[in-house]
Amino acid sequence: MTTTPSSLIEQAAVACAGARKGVALTGAGISVESGIPPFRGKGGLWEKIDPMKYAHVAAFESNPAEVWEVLFIGMSDVLGKASPNAAHKGLRQLEDSGVLQTVITQNVDGLHQQAGSSDVIEFHGTHAFLRCSACSRRVDAKAVPLDHLPPKCRCGGVLRPDVVLFGEMIDPNLLQRSQLLSAGCDVMLVIGTSGTVEPAASLPLIAKHSGAFIIEINPEPTPLTDRISDVTLLGPAGEIMDEMVDRVKKLKV
Ligand code: OAD
Repeated sequence: MTTTPSSLIEQAAVACAGARKGVALTGAGISVESGIPPFRGKGGLWEKIDPMKYAHVAAFESNPAEVWEVLFIGMSDVLGKASPNAAHKGLRQLEDSGVLQTVITQNVDGLHQQAGSSDVIEFHGTHAFLRCSACSRRVDAKAVPLDHLPPKCRCGGVLRPDVVLFGEMIDPNLLQRSQLLSAGCDVMLVIGTSGTVEPAASLPLIAKHSGAFIIEINPEPTPLTDRISDVTLLGPAGEIMDEMVDRVKKLKV
């Protein structure tokens, strides 16, 4: 059971039940209950691996085999075993209830799509596809053998997961669409993100300044908690979402 006061969950549920243009911004924390570790904090990936050494585009360009060995192979293994949890499923249910229109995720695990969310913006790309760093051809990651690293494209270029590395830009079309949706939403659910990586971290600010009600779900307070969030539900996303979505459904009958 969560320790979040029931009155706060009710307040969030009432806001959701009245929403028609809800947007969720999710981060690594939403997939922790699916067995995928986050990046920051206790047990986070960046505690074990220096992101500037292995997750920066310059590192990949200078030694792609090492980045594959240290970062990408381990991530592929973990992501391949994960399935959606109650929080991913809860967002799908909020879409079915007419509350939520889009999920903007910083995650590359594909779990929102697996849970059935129909409009998912993959802000930082996806591990499901590899992209050639020379010719930009995209291929299904499952179709590429990883016995020799780095894997190569048929053009001879080096393949890499189709994700955004440090030092790279967010796809401008995705960024613009995310900003427009944030400016137009009535409720924003901010789930499992430390709110520290730009430009994703600014999306809740855009939503707030445009009049949206901000619901944050996270076991720990973040830089958004006191400044931006209207309600913060402290606890694991799966547990909290289970309870909140149940209440939303009751309020909508
Ligand atoms: P972080 O690892 O920075 O933050 C994860 C957040 O999830 C923290 O605030 C945790 O408190 C919270 N958390 C942990 N367990 C949780 C649970 N069970 N339920 C809900 N929340 C939980 O992850 P992001 O904010 O997603 O970028 O990080 C943003 C970006 O930084 C990532 O997309 C990645 C990383 O470097 C790139 O690789 C470009």
